[in-house]
Amino acid sequence: MATMESLIGLVNRIQRACTVLGDHGGEGMSLWEALPSVAVVGGQSSGKSSVLESVVGRDFLPRGSGIVTRRPLVLQLHKIEGQSEYAEFLHAPKKRFSDFAAVRKEIADETDRITGKSKQISNIPIHLSIYSPNVVNLTLIDLPGLTKVAVEGQSESIVEDIEMMVRSYVEKPNCIILAISPANQDIATSDAIKIAREVDPTGERTFGVLTKLDLMDKGTNALDVLEGRAYRLQHPWVGIVNRSQADINKNVNMTSARQKEIEYFESSPEYGHLAHKMGSEYLAKLLSQHLEVVIRQRIPSIIALINKTIDELNAELDRIGRPIGVDGGAQLYTILQMCRAFDRIFKEHLD
Ligand code: GDP
Ligand code: NA
Ligand code: MG
Repeated sequence: MATMESLIGLVNRIQRACTVLGDHGGEGMSLWEALPSVAVVGGQSSGKSSVLESVVGRDFLPRGSGIVTRRPLVLQLHKIEGQSEYAEFLHAPKKRFSDFAAVRKEIADETDRITGKSKQISNIPIHLSIYSPNVVNLTLIDLPGLTKVAVEGQSESIVEDIEMMVRSYVEKPNCIILAISPANQDIATSDAIKIAREVDPTGERTFGVLTKLDLMDKGTNALDVLEGRAYRLQHPWVGIVNRSQADINKNVNMTSARQKEIEYFESSPEYGHLAHKMGSEYLAKLLSQHLEVVIRQRIPSIIALINKTIDELNAELDRIGRPIGVDGGAQLYTILQMCRAFDRIFKEHLD
């Protein structure tokens, strides 16, 4: 029997197939929606992009002040054997990026291609896959930060537009919410917790992440939050220390940033006893483990959906005729073949 890790890899491949070939969910819940993914939500500058980069262990996201993330970024991490590490965009499938600075530029350019250079937002996601021996298999979605006011050059509706976009992801029952709150703000005012509480009142699919622990006022600490007293979730809170803007300006790399983060917790008088449950690396493992559990629970319903998809594709192919050459029919046929293969593999996991 294959390992659990490869089960997540399998789900990753189905999600990728759904996005490449179009999601053929038909009526009701689509295949993509049936599969779990992790959405990163929080206020502007709460540290969302930084957390995502730490989980990946790579610098590749555009950063800066204001609304930098203006389209959803669907990021699929694929664990591979070997040494080489590369990225690929759905909108440029033939191009392999091994330079992550070029990945960052491509995200920014592709954002502008749809939104113009304006500060508008778009619901159309950018799909990025990263293949690396150093990642855990995960699908993560970076979303624009929740804001309270529109700034110069933005339409008045941007505040609600962003909230609606975030909501459309987090309200899906299979969405795991990575709720990012900065430790230097009162948790009671956290945009992430506010929206998570609404769509997941029992906190069973919300992971609370507290960033900027290093920026708290002297003499204060975040134990109330990290130990679950301030806002209770089913999963433990994870504290994070990302790179500061000064670190970024000094080009502090990811490896030394992670090392510094570990040292921060291990040497902390307040958080030392929690050190083994804090930090970006721990967060990545926690999410991956949780995803495995969720996927295992969902195998029967995923198989049912795949079979429904197979039936619908067969019906559609009967209607339009079996394909000759590369057209819509050929694509449907490819999905059909893939669904059959996935169905077989998933059933093996049931044994
Ligand atoms: P986003 O807007 O939520 O995606 O936030 P970013 O990840 O872009 O971070 C916003 C700013 O906060 C950047 O200048 C980061 O360097 C800084 N930042 C994020 N997390 C931390 C942290 O844990 N500690 C410190 N000191 N700075 C952080
Ligand atoms: Na930002
Ligand atoms: Mg961001």
